[in-house]
Amino acid sequence: MGARISLDYITHRFGSASAPTLSNINSEIKSGQQVALIGRSGCGKSTLLHILAGLLQPSEGCVRVNGHQVTKPSARWNMMFQKASLYPWMSTEENAALGLIFAGTKKREAVAQVQELLAMVGLQEKNKAKVQSLSGGQQQRVALARSLATNPEVLLLDEPFSALDAFTRTALQEDVPAICRDRGITLVLVTHDIDEAVAMADRVMIMSQNPGRIVSELSIDLSYPRRHMDAHFQSLRSELMDRFENIDKLAHGEDLISDSDTENPSLSAQPSKRSLP
Ligand SMILES: Nc1ncnc2c1ncn2[C@@H]1O[C@H](COP(=O)(O)OP(=O)(O)O)[C@@H](O)[C@H]1O
Ligand SMILES: [Mg+2]
Repeated sequence: MGARISLDYITHRFGSASAPTLSNINSEIKSGQQVALIGRSGCGKSTLLHILAGLLQPSEGCVRVNGHQVTKPSARWNMMFQKASLYPWMSTEENAALGLIFAGTKKREAVAQVQELLAMVGLQEKNKAKVQSLSGGQQQRVALARSLATNPEVLLLDEPFSALDAFTRTALQEDVPAICRDRGITLVLVTHDIDEAVAMADRVMIMSQNPGRIVSELSIDLSYPRRHMDAHFQSLRSELMDRFENIDKLAHGEDLISDSDTENPSLSAQPSKRSLP
């Protein structure tokens, strides 16, 4: 099962005197929802994801998962990074089993438990292979299996596919949300790729820069599998592009989303008449 996440008035400064990197981020993510967080490089996406993962404590405010404040990392909310970070001297199955082993499961049992997951991510034939012999996409699939092995309620992805070739990326953009939907996992994906956001998320949050704030939202009401060439896919993509181009206006205008919009993202799915020309 997934988990409900609340971001309660999060402000973060690196160094006490500096200007905030994140300012007053307040939102609610429903259990099982798939959210993409998009914004320019350096706007604070990774910082916010680290806060969600409990890897960083915000200067003000807090994150709650099912009402409980996040104060440290946990296998219940797993983070997956752009680099797979596998141990090259271990096999696929040993790498995939690591989270379980760290959580106290005996190695033999942990390795047995990950076989089904490895099959799900298309690596059943590679379970004994050393990860060094795998392609980048396959290594990222091992990292995905490792993240899923501990049955997380939340999966946090930080630009996980940006180093992969287009075919592998497209395959994972389909597979990961499907797996999360199947298991009811709440997904938060950070990306600077608008197509990736439309392909994977059912809700997109747009972040401004200096300070990082959530300035707009769009709900993605597309069914699966999603086809990039579909007219509705393209119209949602253009809408996001438009908002992105107007991000400075959104950040300084009256369009900062309110609490009521956050509870019902479809409310903010309409193009803003106030700020767009
Ligand atoms: N550990 C840190 N110490 C000081 N500044 C940091 C640290 N991590 C990130 N920053 C700064 O915070 C801002 C946001 O960074 P980041 O969250 O990595 O952005 P994004 O992921 O959107 O590219 C950047 O200006 C970056 O230099
Ligand atoms: Mg980043």
